[in-house]
Amino acid sequence: MSKPLRSLIKVIVLGDCGVGKTSLVNQYVFKKFRQQYKATIGADFATKELEIGERVATLQIWDTAGQERFHSLGVAFYRGADCCILVYDVNVPKSFETLQRWHEEFIKQADLTEPEKFPFVLIGNKVDLEGGSIETVSEKKAKEWCDSRGNIHYFMTSAKEDYNVDAAFLCAAQLALANE
Ligand code: GTP
Ligand code: MG
Repeated sequence: MSKPLRSLIKVIVLGDCGVGKTSLVNQYVFKKFRQQYKATIGADFATKELEIGERVATLQIWDTAGQERFHSLGVAFYRGADCCILVYDVNVPKSFETLQRWHEEFIKQADLTEPEKFPFVLIGNKVDLEGGSIETVSEKKAKEWCDSRGNIHYFMTSAKEDYNVDAAFLCAAQLALANE
């Protein structure tokens, strides 16, 4: 039997503070969820191994800080990324509006040679809170945003209820491998 092909995939997770970046990573890697908010300072990283067909991929997931004052610390990690996951909170329209800025800044700071070919995944998180009286960002609007910026893949998730979290990270890994 031949040895499986091994790949290291660097994934960067970006988005406003409080949208659930750390919660998504913790749910995906450790199957844990914490109700309490603790802001990420700079960036943290976690790894997870997964099998994709014949390959064994190690995802190195960089969870960056959304808070403005810690922002510049995160930028240093963008270089060498194989995939970027952009996150917003479906219940916070402002976190959707700032995606544009996160997207553009990533393209610039990661120094992408062919941004249109680079794999991006968009996550609308906290769908478990949807349906209250508050204004939410519609799925249609999110999909339109993805289409207008090339082929960005979209997932609606709940880090709290572990809904669609695996699917979103698996997609990120598959896109990165396909782009190698
Ligand atoms: P920064 O590190 O400051 O950039 O924030 P973050 O994007 O990492 O957010 P974090 O994961 O720390 O989550 C912020 C708050 O939202 C925490 O209180 C979480 O418990 C909560 N939260 C995260 N994901 C979900 C979700 O899917 N549903 C619900 N109901 N709450 C969530
Ligand atoms: Mg965080």
